[in-house]
Order: sequence, then C-alpha cells, then structure tokens
Amino acid sequence: MGERIAPLEINKEEFIKIGYSLIDSIADFIHSIKQKPVTTGESPKQLQAILGNTSLPENGVNAEVLFSRAADLLFNHSLLNGHPKFFGYITSSPAPVGALADLLVAAVNPNAGANILSPMATEIEKQTIRWLAEFIGVSSSYGGILVSGGNMANFTAFLAARTVKAPKIIKENGISNDTQKLTVYCAKSTHTWIEKAVALFGLGTKAIRWIETDSDNKLNITILQQTINNDLQNGCKPLMVIGNAGDVSTGAVDDMKGIAAVCKMYDLWFHIDGAYGIPAAVLPGLKDMFEGIEEADSIALDPHKWLYSPLEAGCTLVKDPNHLIETYSSHPVYYNFRSDDEPSTQNFYEYGLQNSRGFRALKVWIALQQVGKNGYIQMISEDIRLSKLMFRLTTAHPELEAVTQNLSIATFRYVPLENNNEETKEAYLNKLNEALLNQLQHGGEVFMSNAVINEKYCLRCCIVNFRTSEKDIEEVIAIVVREGRKMHALIH
Ligand SMILES: Cc1ncc(COP(=O)(O)O)c(C=O)c1O
Repeated sequence: MGERIAPLEINKEEFIKIGYSLIDSIADFIHSIKQKPVTTGESPKQLQAILGNTSLPENGVNAEVLFSRAADLLFNHSLLNGHPKFFGYITSSPAPVGALADLLVAAVNPNAGANILSPMATEIEKQTIRWLAEFIGVSSSYGGILVSGGNMANFTAFLAARTVKAPKIIKENGISNDTQKLTVYCAKSTHTWIEKAVALFGLGTKAIRWIETDSDNKLNITILQQTINNDLQNGCKPLMVIGNAGDVSTGAVDDMKGIAAVCKMYDLWFHIDGAYGIPAAVLPGLKDMFEGIEEADSIALDPHKWLYSPLEAGCTLVKDPNHLIETYSSHPVYYNFRSDDEPSTQNFYEYGLQNSRGFRALKVWIALQQVGKNGYIQMISEDIRLSKLMFRLTTAHPELEAVTQNLSIATFRYVPLENNNEETKEAYLNKLNEALLNQLQHGGEVFMSNAVINEKYCLRCCIVNFRTSEKDIEEVIAIVVREGRKMHALIH
C-alpha cells in the first residue's frame, strides 16, 4: 500500500510557489496602500456581480488560481483600514508582522484551550498577558485570557463579576423570580456590549443603570452614588460599576479613582472597559488621567484597536485570575488536562468561554517586541498629537465647528457660512452632516464615522493609525470642507 495522498495535501514545491507569490502580492499591496482609494464604494449588488453566482464546484480547482483570484478580490474590493486616511469606528491599521504571525499560527495550528495541546503557545499567551498588564501599568498579579475582541473581553469579565458578587446559588439555580434584582452601573456613553451582556447573562436590559455624564462626557460620580443608594433602598442587589477608559464616541476617560472608591464603599466589582483607550496609560504624560486603573477587578483591552494588531485580538485582565477559574472551569471526564505535579500548568479553557481556541497571542507578542514599549509610546502619542491637530484645524476653520477631542478621537461638524434660519438650523445641520458622512464614506478619499453629541450629529475621526501623517490631516480637512459645500448646495 502506498502513502495516502489526500486532496487537501499540497506538495512542498507547490506550497512554496503559491506562498512566495502570495507574499509578493501582499508586500505590493501593503506598500501601495497609500495610493489606493480607502474604499471603492461598490454596492453589494456590484460585488455579487464581480464574485459571480456559480454553484459549489464538484471537483477541485487549482490552488494557485484560487489564491490569485482571492488576492485580487480582497486587494481591489475592500475597505482598507490600513490606509492612512482611515479613521472609522475603532479599527486600526494592522501591523504587517501580524499578517505573518497569523500565517505561522495557522501552519502550526495549536489549540490554545489546553496546555497539553499547545505547550509553547500557552506559554507565549501567558507572557503576552503579563506584558499587557505591565504595559498599562497594573500589577503583574493580573492574569487573564486573549479573546476575539472588546465585546468578548467585556463579557468574559462580566460573568466573572456576576459569579463573585451575585449570590453563589445563581451558578447552580440560575436567575429566578426569587432572585433579588441584580443591577449594573455605567455611563450612558458605554458601548453596546453591555446590552448584549445583560441579555446573555440573564440580568435583562432593565438591570442597566445608565448614569448621566458631566460636561466632559465622564460618568457623574454623585449621580452614580445616588442611584446605588436608591437601588439598595428598593431591595436591588448592585453588582458592578463599569468605567470607560476611552468611550467609543468621544474617547472620554472616566474618573477611575472616584469609581474605585464607590466600588470599595459598596463592595461592588469594578470593571474597566478600556477596549479602545487603556493602551494610552503607557504614556508618562497621561498618568493622572488613568489614575485608579490599578484598582480594577477586571479590565478589557483590545490589541486589535490601539496596539495595531490585525483582527481579532481582545484581552480580559482580572486582578485575581482565580475568579475566572471559579467562573469558567469544569472537569469533564473526557479531558485529561490536569497535571498535579506541574502547578504552573495553565489550561486556557478554564479562563473563558471558549474551549478550542486559536492562538491569538502570537501577533501581539511579536508586535510588542518588534517595536518595544518605546515604539508604542511613540505611535500612540503621535496619534494623539494628530487628533489634537485635527481639532485645532477644525476650530480655526470658519465652516467647521469643533465639538470634542479626547485621546485620539476628534469630533466636529460642517457648518455652512450662510444658514440663517435659527429655528431650523440644528435640524438642518444634522441632516447636512449625515448626508455629508454618507458621501465621505463612499467617496474613497477618507473614511470616518459619526457620533451624536448633545443631539448634534458630528463627524468623528478616531486615529489608531500608525500610517497617518500631518499631511493626511490637512488634506482631510480640505476634503470635508469641499464636500460639505457641495452637499449644502445640493440639499439646501
Ligand atoms: C469602548 C469599547 N468597548 C467595546 C467595544 C467592542 O469591541 P469589539 O468591536 O472588538 O467587540 C468597542 C468597539 O469599538 C469600544 O470602543
């Protein structure tokens, strides 16, 4: 009997040929990204026509042909978040080493759910988590797990908070009509993950206490305390307070020290959603802004945002990692993962929601070392400097109104010079800026998103982009004004 040759197997020469050609085309793509449009703005219908509507092939197709086609489809018909003028939502330009790291990971394919299945990958993930804690300046006693992104990082911490702070019986009996109403507290600017979390973990959306923000868009600590007191008087069981270290719309960082003190006073879990902003705690100049983060019971941090990792990479850090084990560990008979003679053995399936897990840490581990802490300090502070420049330029321009600037997020709107109807002015400006955003998002010169701040529809630029330069910012201002004038002329 000869050796088995499965249809998916590939010989070495062919692998090298396809791989080299793919790497060549990726290198061309990355190095010409600045000259490409940010998006082609094609509609789903146009894309379907390009993709074609053929049925699943009965027989195999040559892999080289497939890669060449896939590369063409992706390079020429994608929204390019690696473009220097991409400022939408919170997605970073991906570090090129991340692409290579993901290729290496897929080749070895460790299952990072259990130590025995991923011996070196597990150690690299543990080290990455230690480095992330060190990076943001919290104690090295924090442990945690890498997850797919911000939502999952916050969910992972949320269930740990419920396990620790809600009555213990819930883990066994679930939440029933007899359970005291469990409540959670966060600024009204908190990202939508919280609504999914309360649905997922049984509290229901009425459990969320949306706390008013003050004029700086930070959670109002006095109202927080009043709301907790009120809930206690009404027989509720407050569980946790969430502080935002960079809220999704404006980048505001809550008063962490103030929230930590409230949590201590009422014995509540203190969680920080730092998915976007907490890497900025590495900057010596921002120490005061982030004071108090070291008191958090848990922190969500997304390497795929401000550490420029390719999607997907999120991280949950927990002050006492045993709380994750208490929440997630189980020992089914079909797992032979325990090792009594090696106490430092860590099985990541016991720290979070996944059992089989990809090895997300490698791309983060490599990028952290490629540039070191100082490289990140340089990139993050440059993003902030450019965002401040954008804010200054919008402030100085007679047809732009600067609205907010925090961390690397600036918000502003286009305000035409002649628009004298005071009564309808605000409604018109909202309509104008929404239409302008739609035009900009499809135009291909720049990509930004929106924020609604005090009922004003604003354009919002979040710079987590190591490719952006001062010239890009100046050009974007000119594009917004040019398109703003056109849109005003069209819809006025
Ligand atoms: C503050 C904050 N938290 C959570 C998230 C959710 O992260 P993800 O989209 O990676 O799940 C975001 C996304 O922008 C965010 O800005």
